[in-house]
Amino acid sequence: LPVASFDCTVFGATGDLTMRKLLPALYHRHRDRQFPDTSRIIGAARGQLDDDGFRRQAEAALRQHLPADALEAATLQEFLAQLHYRPIEGSGEGGWETLAATLAERPGQVRPFYLATSPELYGPICQRLARHGALSPQARVVLEKPIGHDLTSARDINRAVGEVLPEAQTFRIDHYLGKETVQNLMALRFANPIFERLWHADMIDHVQITVAEEVGIGGRGGYYDRAGALRDMVQNHMLQLLCLLAMESPISLDPDAVRDEKVKVLRALKPIAPHEAHLATVRGQYTAGAIAGQPVPGYRQDLGGEASLTESFVALKLQINSWRWAGVPFYLRTGKRLPRKVSEIIIEFRTPPFSIFPREAVGMQPNRLLIRLQPEEGMRLEMMTKEPGPGGLHLRPTGLDISFEKTFGQRYPDAYERLLMDVVRGNTTLFMRRDEVEMAWQWVEPILQGWTDRPETPRPYAAGSWGPTAAIAMIERDGRTWYESL
Ligand code: BG6
Repeated sequence: LPVASFDCTVFGATGDLTMRKLLPALYHRHRDRQFPDTSRIIGAARGQLDDDGFRRQAEAALRQHLPADALEAATLQEFLAQLHYRPIEGSGEGGWETLAATLAERPGQVRPFYLATSPELYGPICQRLARHGALSPQARVVLEKPIGHDLTSARDINRAVGEVLPEAQTFRIDHYLGKETVQNLMALRFANPIFERLWHADMIDHVQITVAEEVGIGGRGGYYDRAGALRDMVQNHMLQLLCLLAMESPISLDPDAVRDEKVKVLRALKPIAPHEAHLATVRGQYTAGAIAGQPVPGYRQDLGGEASLTESFVALKLQINSWRWAGVPFYLRTGKRLPRKVSEIIIEFRTPPFSIFPREAVGMQPNRLLIRLQPEEGMRLEMMTKEPGPGGLHLRPTGLDISFEKTFGQRYPDAYERLLMDVVRGNTTLFMRRDEVEMAWQWVEPILQGWTDRPETPRPYAAGSWGPTAAIAMIERDGRTWYESL
């Protein structure tokens, strides 16, 4: 669906996110002709570049991050011609008048401002945009995660932004919500009543959510070492997945109807008090190892040899205090330098209350629903079947599989493509509301507090393994085990 012409200003225009994700996403949308050629993308950052200098950087980034067959020469040149650059001081006064004058050339345009900067600048940038009259009714401000470093800083940012911008024009992005398969969770749950009837503590034994990455901290050590896996992945992406999985049916797809239900899940999370944090969580940090046969250095080497207590892996067990979920544990784990990139949700159902099958009917396993978010997006329902043949009654699990790629056979737009177009449309459904972000911090904060009160060296795990053995012990203490679907 085509969107209106826009003037999109990207703060942090020469940074990693813009080059790696935002420009490639905008390029794809341009290539599919989703937005008119009259649109402008205005890069803003500290560096003293001109339009051509920025276009050269952008071209190099697109060549690096996009497959060669997506880069037709004519399309690329058209796209680059839509790029502009205005030097700006995010926390100073330089450059604002020029930017405001550029925007004022076209007063009626939809005006997204993408803040791909450090979160301390969100308040100051919004305040300056307001002072220079740039926050028109057509303005929409996108705030990248993390919104702050803890509850207090998140509240401060939300307050500073809220002073000059209505909530309906504030887009707090969590790119996991833009992934096709994450949106499909809503379809799975609310378009298929057969599952909804089973989505309950009476039928579900437990839930596992794994978000594993092969990559290490790369060149992002400065940011990552201050954040760690709990802030970087759990506070936002994983809690968002949990909300979609656990929420009640919203009364409509209206942005606030959906976000109201997500907030209720966050409110119902059983707090993990600081003194319980060391029992309910496991922190890990990767050491040198190998991924896909290639040797890779450890976390501290990636940091340049610094000692660090930051976790690159975290596993935790949480509970939701509600009628639907009481007594059902949710096990979450995420980490860098794990054997492969995979994000997966596993719902394990209860075993039959009584088995009529003899012991020799080996292989009895609980039913499981596997939802693969990435890569090879799909779903699999594991069911017990009888092994064919005359040799007695042997049971084994077999899967009902849906592969989205085989079924729909097309390229999936990257999450940022979808979300950027939603910004232009002004649709906030897939963005986090102020109270969601604050509620998520409120739940995470006592864990961070517990870790500070009782500092521990994160448990080492070799790059290329599934994390520290303590994470395996954590789930096995409950008589369960991490399930690997591949
Ligand atoms: C980002 C985190 O939000 O998500 C990164 O800051 C992480 O550390 C990334 O690598 C993972 O996203 P994806 O889409 O590759 O699963």
